[in-house]
Amino acid sequence: MTSPVTILGICGSLRKASFNRMALRAAQSLTPPDSKLEIFDLHEIPMFNQDDESNPPAAVTEFKKRIRAADAILFSTPEYNYSIPGVLKNAIDWASRPYGDNSWSGKPAAVMSAAPGLFGGIRAHYVLLQSFVFLNMNAMTQPEFAMGKANEKFDAQGNLTDEASRTLMTQMMANLVDWTLRLRGSLAER
Ligand code: FNR
Repeated sequence: MTSPVTILGICGSLRKASFNRMALRAAQSLTPPDSKLEIFDLHEIPMFNQDDESNPPAAVTEFKKRIRAADAILFSTPEYNYSIPGVLKNAIDWASRPYGDNSWSGKPAAVMSAAPGLFGGIRAHYVLLQSFVFLNMNAMTQPEFAMGKANEKFDAQGNLTDEASRTLMTQMMANLVDWTLRLRGSLAER
């Protein structure tokens, strides 16, 4: 029997009615049995200042602790101007520092995005994947989950009502757990 998989969900939007946060909440209920998705809120993370990287604010210390404790990471982010929001890049940078103390290293990770536009924020995936290379994260890239027309896919309570999105998200969560267990298995074999 395998031990449970804990995934840390990180939302790239601080907006109260964020579709990406709604997507993360939906993913919590579509995570396979024996695994769970916890959501970390970036509201308290201040702007990065390299002068403080060796003695970071408490919110950053807690963030790094939560990343380290997680078995995998799930980013859900809007695309801002064909890239990722500064809020998310800022948080990623904090947790990667100081040099030699990169909390992301070795973590399995998946990306999803949501946007009212047709392309669903897909370009933000590729920006994140580029950072994963230097961060030494193990990207789980299929299926690509970029939810277009997100404003039509949740009800007034924020529940994901679109069946096709629910099916694809269920597959993505299953693949992320599978990928995490496969990496765990190959490490155990070493
Ligand atoms: C956007 N939006 C946007 N959408 C998109 O599909 N491609 C883009 O490049 C951008 N660029 C962009 C820049 C900025 C500064 C803002 C504020 C917005 C629209 C964006 O997808 C929309 O606001 C989403 O609802 C944001 O995600 P949350 O907050 O709902 O999770």
